Amino acid sequence: LHVLVLAGGLSYERDVSLKSGRRVLDALRSVGIDAELRDADVTLLPALQADPPDAVVIALHGATGEDGSLRGVLDLCDVPYVGCDARASRLAWDKPSAKAVLREAAIPTPDWVALPHDRFSELGAVAVLDRIAGRLGLPLMVKPAQGGSGLGAAVVREPSALPAAMVGCFAYDSTALVERYVAGMDVAVSVVDLGAGPQALPAVEIVPRNGVYDYAARYTAGLTTWHAPARLDDAVAVRVAETALAAHTALGLRDLSRVDLIVDGDGQPHVLEVNVSPGMTETSLLPLAVQAAGLDFGKLLATLVSRAAA
Ligand code: DAL
Ligand code: MG
Repeated sequence: LHVLVLAGGLSYERDVSLKSGRRVLDALRSVGIDAELRDADVTLLPALQADPPDAVVIALHGATGEDGSLRGVLDLCDVPYVGCDARASRLAWDKPSAKAVLREAAIPTPDWVALPHDRFSELGAVAVLDRIAGRLGLPLMVKPAQGGSGLGAAVVREPSALPAAMVGCFAYDSTALVERYVAGMDVAVSVVDLGAGPQALPAVEIVPRNGVYDYAARYTAGLTTWHAPARLDDAVAVRVAETALAAHTALGLRDLSRVDLIVDGDGQPHVLEVNVSPGMTETSLLPLAVQAAGLDFGKLLATLVSRAAA
């Protein structure tokens, strides 16, 4: 079995992706799989045509890797890959679209407003704040409608913080997602399908040292501690797992995903987003969940690859 691991690309998460790619490569090789790492650049298409791999593992994050475009190219070349198809990927990647699907499926997700940059400029920060805070209250969470790794995301606790948060967000995307801020425990649930249907791995609880799980907290060793499994009552843990599986299914995902949630003080989970290409770095959450489940990361990837190639 010859496996191509795709990493890098030109998204804002290029560096993260290269780390994910190397870790995936090492894990596949540790179980004897012939794997190769490759950047997703313009030479990819001719390379796929000249020497098609048996399967691809997409360790690309951000646009291209998660917006469905690369998956469309792989479909076009008839190259199988681990993970969901282009359509589901495009849907999950766009947070306002994904949240609308979740809400339609009665899966709790914080109330939100999607605000294009043009509309923000037209109304001005004060009017925007009046309208949005009037409807959603404070604090608010501002993040790019399409993005990842916490880039361009900020909590707005007081009105004066809104303009800077919006400007930071629009640096990454032309549409902002403004959400009601739900206080509680941050958890991530990795979902994998090893042949018997989607299963939720133990939830991982995220405790950033400075209280905010931003880019630095995600990728700097020592800035975040984790509890895997999360410190939840059994009944709440079950509800969290069921909610994550429901989100994975509602969005039409396949093979693997990571569902990020907040569990509020009443033990109610709220889905923040679903990642179709979860981080696989040394400080990422899916590998921690795999370990907490007593599974071997290399063997798990090998199973996913064999299923994709079959
Ligand atoms: N976007 C990063 C890679 C993650 O969700 O893990
Ligand atoms: Mg994400």
